[in-house]
Amino acid sequence: MAGLKERSVGIVMNGVTGRMGYRQHLVRSILAIREQGGVRLPDGTVVWPEPILVGRNEAKLAAIAKDHGLDNWTTDLDAALADPAAEIYFDAQVTSRRVEGVRKAVAAGKHIYTEKPVAEDVGTALELARLAASAGVKVGVVQDKLFLPGLLKLKRLVDGGFFGRVLSVRGEFGYWVFEGDWQEAQRPSWNYRSEDGGGIIIDMFCHWRYVLEDIFGPVRSVQALAATHVPERVDEGGRPYACTADDAAYGIFELDGGIVAQVNSSWATRVFRDELVEFQVDGTEGSAVAGLRRCRVQHRSVTPKPVWNPDLPATEDFRGQWQDVPDNAEFDNGFKAQWELFLRHVVADGEFPWDFLAGARGVQLAELGLRSAQEGRRIAVEPLRL
Ligand SMILES: NC(=O)c1ccc[n+]([C@@H]2O[C@H](COP(=O)([O-])OP(=O)(O)OC[C@H]3O[C@@H](n4cnc5c(N)ncnc54)[C@H](O)[C@@H]3O)[C@@H](O)[C@H]2O)c1
Repeated sequence: MAGLKERSVGIVMNGVTGRMGYRQHLVRSILAIREQGGVRLPDGTVVWPEPILVGRNEAKLAAIAKDHGLDNWTTDLDAALADPAAEIYFDAQVTSRRVEGVRKAVAAGKHIYTEKPVAEDVGTALELARLAASAGVKVGVVQDKLFLPGLLKLKRLVDGGFFGRVLSVRGEFGYWVFEGDWQEAQRPSWNYRSEDGGGIIIDMFCHWRYVLEDIFGPVRSVQALAATHVPERVDEGGRPYACTADDAAYGIFELDGGIVAQVNSSWATRVFRDELVEFQVDGTEGSAVAGLRRCRVQHRSVTPKPVWNPDLPATEDFRGQWQDVPDNAEFDNGFKAQWELFLRHVVADGEFPWDFLAGARGVQLAELGLRSAQEGRRIAVEPLRL
């Protein structure tokens, strides 16, 4: 590539043997960026990510490295962080291990990108944000749902004024997670133990905070009811364990402008939807239903007038009365798109609004959601500051 300057960036990738670390971050993001020839900056420089794989299991790391033609891996995080070529620390470990990894990375002067939640409680999340700010390192938290094609199209509708005044948002997220007895569970067992950082509120409310705020506006209050519908599951080793964490959460959020958002999150529901998450937005001028990829609308001018009559079978094809919003763009994998922005941010000072304070806001909503569920009351969400 004559005339192109290559700028290599070492990335310590911790937790790369896990579900997210391997599939979304290593394969679909960092390796995909290498396959496309790096990230091109406006001045022609090509940013070239060099992963340094870190994990606890030597055999698993060696196998991943071999499968993908990589040779830099270690089970020694301190040694990886001591490498001056490593500029970024990335963390996709189990949530309960994150804080220790991030602290070490700050002390080593690395820029930090991490999976959500940034910490298990808001006090610690804010402390990490302050630590990073005083060390002068750049930080980011994964907020992948914002890059989903369905939600990008929904945001486009909001920005274009399609809805008039938004009245309400109704989100439905979830699917059946097998108990692990007669069929293997498709999620790790720590997700169902609160002592190990599990629970659907800490997992999903972090996402709902930035989805609601980036698309509609600030969240002013939360009211949640949490449940552990499945009390016992079977772990990766075939041993039964008690589920101590919530596996479903029924949340109501008040947003600025009187918008009411209701979001159900559940690992104990069977899907009768078109996608694993869907949001219906109703506004004075029109409504939309957005999922991971699709977004459909119904404008007020074409809204039919249903009449309630249970004595007759439904004759209308209600779903057929909606129109697809066209892509009008190519959508990349959301994790990869956000990685590219973070790499630009580190190398060339590009914008990156999803910092540790943004991550802390997600943790705050989860913490207040849990408290609301425990105390059985609605709780105000106060603005967070560093
Ligand atoms: N952005 C998203 O949509 C999304 C989705 C799922 C999970 N996550 C987040 O990603 C992180 C990892 O989740 P996952 O589903 O990949 O989990 P996982 O169990 O598949 O992977 C966990 C990783 O952490 C490592 N680890 C370190 N200490 C561990 C310990 N004591 N016990 C078990 N594993 C340990 C494992 O080796 C593994 O690499 C979590 O913080 C989770 O909140 C994000």
